[in-house]
Amino acid sequence: MSLETKSLHGKRILLIISGGIAAYKSLDLIRRLKERGAEVRPVMTAAAQHFITPLAVGALSASHVYTELFSREDEQDVGHIRLARECDLIVVAPATADLMAKMANGLADDLASTVLLAADRPVLIAPAMNPKMWAHPATKRNVATLKADGLTFIGPMAGEMAEKGESGLGRMAEPLEIVAAIEALLTPAEKPLSGKTAIVTSGPTHEPIDPVRYIANRSSGRQGHAIASALARLGAEVTLVSGPVTLADPHGVKTIHVETAEEMRQAVLATFPADLAVMVAAVADWRVATASEHKIKKQPGDAAPTLQMVENPDILKEVGHHPERPSLVVGFAAETRNVEENGKTKLARKGADLIVANDVSPATGIMGGTQNSVSLIFADRVEHWPDMTKDQVAEKLALRMAEMFLAKT
Ligand code: C5P
Repeated sequence: MSLETKSLHGKRILLIISGGIAAYKSLDLIRRLKERGAEVRPVMTAAAQHFITPLAVGALSASHVYTELFSREDEQDVGHIRLARECDLIVVAPATADLMAKMANGLADDLASTVLLAADRPVLIAPAMNPKMWAHPATKRNVATLKADGLTFIGPMAGEMAEKGESGLGRMAEPLEIVAAIEALLTPAEKPLSGKTAIVTSGPTHEPIDPVRYIANRSSGRQGHAIASALARLGAEVTLVSGPVTLADPHGVKTIHVETAEEMRQAVLATFPADLAVMVAAVADWRVATASEHKIKKQPGDAAPTLQMVENPDILKEVGHHPERPSLVVGFAAETRNVEENGKTKLARKGADLIVANDVSPATGIMGGTQNSVSLIFADRVEHWPDMTKDQVAEKLALRMAEMFLAKT
C-alpha cells in the first residue's frame, strides 16, 4: 500500500450502518477505509443486522461493534456520548429514509439516532432507498432540513434497484465514491481556485419535435457533473448548466436546468463573465426547424413525416470566441473514430485551450457509463490518460485546469 493511499491515516470514523440492502456495500467501505489507514468504529441499527452481521462488521473493522443503547457493558466501556465525540467524522452508510427522518426531527430512540443527536462532529450521509421513497415530499423535506443543519450528502445515485425492474435515484453511492467524499471532508484540500468562477455544461439536450417527442442522445451527465463538483472542491464558484439528467444536483454547485441547446446557450451567456469554462454537454447539433405546436398525428396511408432540421448554436465556439472569453476554455470531443485528428481540428475551430477527447464507440460503453478513457489534446501535444472512473477523470482534470488557469493569469 503506497503512502498516497494512506490518505486517512489516523483518522477516526464512526460508521453508522442502518437497515437497507445497500448495507452489504458498507462491508467493502470498511475495507477501503482501513486500507487508507482510518480507524473505523461501527454502530449498527437493529434493522442493519437483518442484512449483514455484527460478526462480519467486527472482523473487517477490527473493532467492537456497537448495537445497543442500553448496554451496560458498552455504556461502561465507551458510552453513546463518547461514541459521538471520539471521532473525526460520522458517516451514515447506508442512511435509510427512516433514520434520516429521525435525524431531521431530533428523535433518539436507539443507539444510532442517539449518537447522531449527541454529535458535534461533521456528518456525511450516504442515502439508500427506493426511488419513490427518495422522491417523497417527506424525505425531500428531511433532506432539506439536514442540509440546512450542515450535514453533507453523497448520493444517492441513479441505477437499478434491488427490487426487480425498478430503477431511478436511490442507490447508495459506491464505496470508493464515499471514500472520496470522506477524504474531501477530512483532508482539507488546497483551494487553488478560491474566488474564481467556472461554468460547466453537462448532460444531453432535448430538441422538441412536437409536444411529446424530442431528439436526444445517450449522455448521462456523469462526467460533466463530476467536473462541476471537482472544480467546486478546488474552491471555484461553479455554475452547472445541465440538460435533462437523472443525477442529483452536485453539492456546493449552483445548478441551472435546461432542455434545449438554445436554453443552454442562454443560461451559459447569462452566467458570463467567468474565469473558467468547461463545456462537457453533448449538445444536439441540430434541432427541428419548427417544432409542431400539436402532436403530429399518424393518419392511415400517410407517408412518414420529414423533419426539417436546422443547426443549433455551437456554445463552445461562441464561448471560445467571446469578447469576454473566460481565461481558460475547455471542450470535450466525443468521437467514434479519428479521435486525435478530430480533436485537433476542434481545438482550433472552437477557440478552446484544451479538448478532452474520448472514444464513444458503443463497444467502449463510455457514453452513459461510469468509466472513461480520455486523451488531452493541446495545440502542441496529446496526452493519453489510462482508463479510470469519470470521478477520477474529473478530479485530475480539475487539478490540471487549475494549473493551466494559474499559469495563464
Ligand atoms: O463539434 P462537437 O459537438 O463534436 O464538439 C464538442 C464540444 O463542443 C463539446 O465540448 C460540447 O459541449 C461543445 N458543443 C457546444 N455546442 C454545440 C455542440 C457542441 O457547446 N452545439
